Amino acid sequence: MNPPQLSLRTKLILSFLVVIIFGGLISLIIGWRIVKNTLISQAQLKVKHDLSAAWMVFNERLNDIKDIIALTSARESLHQALQEKRQDILLKYLQRVRQGYALDFLNLTDARGQVVIRTRNPAHTGDDQSNDELVSRALQGVTVAAPQIIPRKELLKEGPDLAERAKMKILPTPKAAPREENIETRGMVLKAAAPLIDESGQILGALYGGLLLNRNYEIVDRVKGIVYKDEKYKGREIGTATIFQHDLRISTNVRNKDGSRAIGTRVSREVSQAVLKEGQPWIDRAFVVNDWYITAYEPIRNIEGRIIGMLYVGMLEKPYLDTTNRVMLTFTGMASLCVVVLLIILYFSTTRIINPLQKMVTATQWIAQGDLSHKVDVTSSDEIGQLAASFNVMVDNLKEANRKLIEWGKTLEKKVEERTKELCAMQAHLIQSEKLASLGKLAAGIAHEINNPLGGILIYSHLLLEDTDKNSPHYENLKKIVKETARCKEIVKRLLEFARPKEPEFTLIDINEIVEKSLSIVERQVLFQNIKIIKDYDPHLPRTVADGAQLQQVFTNIIINAAEAMNGQGTLTIKTYRDPEDKYLHISFADTGHGISEEDKRRIFEPFFTTKEVGQGTGLGLAISYSIIQKHQGTIEVISQPQEGATFIVKLPIRKDGDEEKT
Ligand SMILES: Nc1ncnc2c1ncn2[C@@H]1O[C@H](COP(=O)(O)OP(=O)(O)OP(=O)(O)O)[C@@H](O)[C@H]1O
Ligand SMILES: [Mg+2]
Repeated sequence: MNPPQLSLRTKLILSFLVVIIFGGLISLIIGWRIVKNTLISQAQLKVKHDLSAAWMVFNERLNDIKDIIALTSARESLHQALQEKRQDILLKYLQRVRQGYALDFLNLTDARGQVVIRTRNPAHTGDDQSNDELVSRALQGVTVAAPQIIPRKELLKEGPDLAERAKMKILPTPKAAPREENIETRGMVLKAAAPLIDESGQILGALYGGLLLNRNYEIVDRVKGIVYKDEKYKGREIGTATIFQHDLRISTNVRNKDGSRAIGTRVSREVSQAVLKEGQPWIDRAFVVNDWYITAYEPIRNIEGRIIGMLYVGMLEKPYLDTTNRVMLTFTGMASLCVVVLLIILYFSTTRIINPLQKMVTATQWIAQGDLSHKVDVTSSDEIGQLAASFNVMVDNLKEANRKLIEWGKTLEKKVEERTKELCAMQAHLIQSEKLASLGKLAAGIAHEINNPLGGILIYSHLLLEDTDKNSPHYENLKKIVKETARCKEIVKRLLEFARPKEPEFTLIDINEIVEKSLSIVERQVLFQNIKIIKDYDPHLPRTVADGAQLQQVFTNIIINAAEAMNGQGTLTIKTYRDPEDKYLHISFADTGHGISEEDKRRIFEPFFTTKEVGQGTGLGLAISYSIIQKHQGTIEVISQPQEGATFIVKLPIRKDGDEEKT
């Protein structure tokens, strides 16, 4: 089965459509990627700046604590009270400081690192803090501040409430790395420690204090307030900040689905790997609790530089995605509109191309069916117009060629007809000549044999007649014998004339003159008395080379025949003229006699053919005339219908040269 044939228009539109849709799709994909990447990279840049802001807040708080500790440790009254072991004064003073500056703990050790004052839990003193990294540095005379992880045992010393605040269940979180323990008991603190140095420069002890970050939202909420100004998107916070203790959210404003803070949830596995294990900052999209965020994470290090957690800020990805989608939707809409407009334009422009083509197809179909009168009616001056014009020219040429072919056909037919006629005439002529030749031979033989005896009979009968008395009964009989013998002699003479014709003697003659001479011989006969003779001679007829006497014999014979056919009454029209090609002289004799039948017409030039009564004609007149004209290289034609008269036309070649000797 053949595949269905698509029209040219459909093919054109389909191919354009494929190009447009393909191009459209590619530009859509590229456009979408560009828009998305631009927006997302802008968002990532913003988040990076936001993380710097978060660090500022974080470090500011740490420095606050450091300043408080440093300033407090420098107070001389504190030195004095420590030296005098005035526990009550120390406790009261330091408790005021802790409450005044909202610290979670504030402790004082002696020079060996033994806790002397524990403001939050005054009952618990005497433990050794000299192993603590910060305290030991303070005891060496340096004021330090850093984030630190504190085990539950140490937290408990500060108070069970603080240990409880730090303790949190590790919640199962999508995309987080698995973790064996399901409870975290340690806490992360911002801690500072400073030495107490007396006037002589001796280190009396160390003052250290800090802030437990677990479930303390002060820093993260400040970050959010400063950076994101509490912006919301569809009821959800756009910006979030988190402090991680290792991979665990201990302080955050990322919310669970129920709206509670996502404390106890964990960071995704890939972020944990990059930031906690490899110490790299992470700036990318990340899955946070239950949504995608554009995020920035950086490790939080303790005083020794070890990674103990992460600081995070992030923005909801959704607003950016929605913006991207909106842009893309507008873009797609515009592209679709362009496609529709293009298709409409395409439809009309293909119509402009297809219509003339269709006209040409129709025209070719007409022409294929043989109708060459069809033309393509296209007036445009573009390639199609040129094609149509060439097509029309081609049709014209085809028409002309066709016309010529038909004409040639006709001419050929006519020529074949003419040639056939000529051939038939020539054939008839040949037959006639043959007949005449054989008859002539026979007649000549007989004539020769009887000519001499006839001569004898005529002489002796003549002598007898002369010697016989007119009254003798034999006289009349002898007279008849002499007359009939003379007639026989005449017939034999004519026969010999026919059989052994004399060679013509050519001289330059005037045909009109010869015709006149012929007429003058017969005109006075009784037979011509009631015959009207019309003469229509061409006065400018050229003279020609011929035997005048022989021609006169021919013309006389024809004129007598005509008079006999008209029975002595009628009109004889004699005309001389030239043929249009100026090669022959024509002498026509038209009578109004009884005419000649078709059958007789074929035989009149035969010797002895006569329709006249016995004794009236020999039937040799036309036979002799024929052979004379033949010797002149001319012809005799007969035009006749029975009862409508007859016309004899003698045609003689015009010869002006002196070549009579040759013929
Ligand atoms: N003008 C004519 N009209 C009708 N028939 C003619 C005419 N001329 C000749 N014929 C016919 O042709 C025949 C032959 O003519 P042709 O001159 O050869 O012989 P003829 O006239 O019969 O005898 P001859 O001429 O020997 O005395 C005639 O007998 C006649 O029948
Ligand atoms: Mg005759």
